[in-house]
Amino acid sequence: MSAERTLILVKPDGVSRGLVGEVIGRLERKGLTLVALELRTLERSVAETHYGEHASKPFFGELVDFITSGPLVALVAEGPRAVEASRGLIGATDPVKAAPGSLRGDYALEIGQNLVHGSDSPESAKREIDLFFPGLS
Ligand code: PPS
Repeated sequence: MSAERTLILVKPDGVSRGLVGEVIGRLERKGLTLVALELRTLERSVAETHYGEHASKPFFGELVDFITSGPLVALVAEGPRAVEASRGLIGATDPVKAAPGSLRGDYALEIGQNLVHGSDSPESAKREIDLFFPGLS
């Protein structure tokens, strides 16, 4: 099967809690390959573009505040069905509902600090990779 790429963010809570290695380790042990990786603090304009489809949601301001609150790790992972595979590793958006064994199920409690972002479709992955790592989608 041909390889697919996805954008993963280890959010500021994951970086401050020292969980970057845990997230990357799980992606690698699943069989995904890292093709780009960067530690950076997002400008508000980049965060607002990244989460643009949620601009009308009541939590949008809180989400942008949080994702720009400190350094995050952005990475591109590649492999067969990388989007679906990494979403499975990450778990449901609400960490209390996320299955034990998933990253959110094991390491998070609050929806506003849910540790990891993963692109939700191949189309979103292309748009998000183009924003963070131009030319790599
Ligand atoms: S929705 O409403 O179903 O479209 O939202 P969803 O796709 O589940 O979530 C979109 C992103 O917003 C984050 N989120 C929140 N942040 C803060 N507070 C609340 N209440 C909240 N609800 C959802 C959610 O984690 C998604 O971001 P990512 O980075 O993809 O996890």
